[in-house]
Amino acid sequence: MIYNKIPGTPIKVSSITFGAWAIGGWMWGGADEKDALAALETSIDLGMTTIDTAPAYGFGKSEELVGKVIEGIRDKVQILTKYGLHWNTDKGVFYFKSEDAAGDPVDIHKYASCESVMKECEDSLRRLRTDYIDLYQIHWPDPSTPISETMEAVARLKEQGKIRAAGVCNYTVDLLKEANEFVDIVTNQVPYSMVKRDIEKDIVPYCQENGKGILPYSPLQRGILTGKITKNYTFNHGDHRPTTPYYKEPNLTRINNFLEDIKPIADENNLSLAQLVIYWTMKQPTMISTLVGARNPEQVKENIKAADAEVSDADLKEITRELDSLELDMTV
Ligand SMILES: NC(=O)c1ccc[n+]([C@@H]2O[C@H](COP(=O)([O-])OP(=O)(O)OC[C@H]3O[C@@H](n4cnc5c(N)ncnc54)[C@H](OP(=O)(O)O)[C@@H]3O)[C@@H](O)[C@H]2O)c1
Repeated sequence: MIYNKIPGTPIKVSSITFGAWAIGGWMWGGADEKDALAALETSIDLGMTTIDTAPAYGFGKSEELVGKVIEGIRDKVQILTKYGLHWNTDKGVFYFKSEDAAGDPVDIHKYASCESVMKECEDSLRRLRTDYIDLYQIHWPDPSTPISETMEAVARLKEQGKIRAAGVCNYTVDLLKEANEFVDIVTNQVPYSMVKRDIEKDIVPYCQENGKGILPYSPLQRGILTGKITKNYTFNHGDHRPTTPYYKEPNLTRINNFLEDIKPIADENNLSLAQLVIYWTMKQPTMISTLVGARNPEQVKENIKAADAEVSDADLKEITRELDSLELDMTV
C-alpha cells in the first residue's frame, strides 16, 4: 500500500480509501452489519487505513459502524466524513425524495448553515467515537447558505482542533475557488470512473495547477465495472443502481463489451477486472486516494490488491484509447 500526503497537510492517506456508503444500507437495498464490520476490520488490517463515511449514509448507521471498529485504534486510521446532507430537516434546499430503512418516505435536503455545521460535527464525533475528524467535507453544495458562512464555520472547527483539514465534494472549480477564500480547501471529492470522466476537462487541471487533491468516488461505477452486472442481475428493493443510466440499455451492453475488450490486459497482468479498473483510476493525475466501496471482506481483499499492482503505461494508454471511443447514452 502506498500512502499519499493530502496536499498542504501532514495527513497521510492510503492510496485506496474504504468507501463506507453501501455498508450504511441507504440507497443500496440494505446491508449486512456483520459483513460490514468485517469488511472495515479487514480493510484496516490489510493497510487500507483511510475510511470515507458521511452522516447521510444510513442516516448515522455508517458512521456508527466505523466508530465501533476504530475505537481503541484511532491513531492508526484516517477518518474522512461530511456534513450538509440531511434526512431530518425542512431547512435549506430540497434535493430528492428517498426512503429510510423501514421503507418510510424521507426528503433529503442540502443545508450547511453555521449552526448546522457546528452541530453536525458534534453528532459525527459522537457516532465515530472520536474527538477529531481528519478531513471534513461538505457533501453537496448548498445554494441556500452563503459559502462564506459555511466555510467560516469549518475554519472555526479547525481552530478548535475538531477537524484537521477541510475538503469539499461535488464542487465546481468556481465554488472551490470561493470556498478557498475562507478556509484552506485541500481536496475535492468527485465522481470519477472509466465511464465518467468529465472532471478531466476542468477540475483535474485546476487541482493539478493549484496543489489540490482529488478523491475520486465510485470508481467501479458502483459495481458495474467489475463485470458482474448482466442483463438479469437482481438488485434488492431500494438499490438505486438500476435507475442510473449506466445500468440501462444500451449502456449496460456497451460497458460489458468494453470490459470484454480490456479483459486480456487484466489477464496478462494477473488482475481481476475490478483490480485493473481501480488501478487505472488511481494512476490518473492528482488522485490522492481512490474511494472504493465494499460490502464484505472478500471485496476488500480483492480491491486492495490494486494498490500493489504494476501495469505498464502502454497498457494504461491502450485502455484510455478504448475508453475514448466508448459512447454512452446518458439520456436513458
Ligand atoms: N461525496 C459524494 O457525494 C459521494 C457519492 C458517492 C460515493 N462517495 C464515496 O465513494 C465511495 C465509493 O463509491 P461507491 O461506493 O459509490 O461505488 P464503487 O466504489 O464504484 O462501488 C462499490 C460497490 O461495488 C460492489 N463491489 C465492490 N468491490 C467489488 C468486487 N471486488 N467485486 C464485486 N463487486 C464489488 C459493491 O456493491 P455490491 O456488492 O452491492 O454490488 C460495492 O458496494 C462511497 O462508498 C463513498 O464513501 C461519495
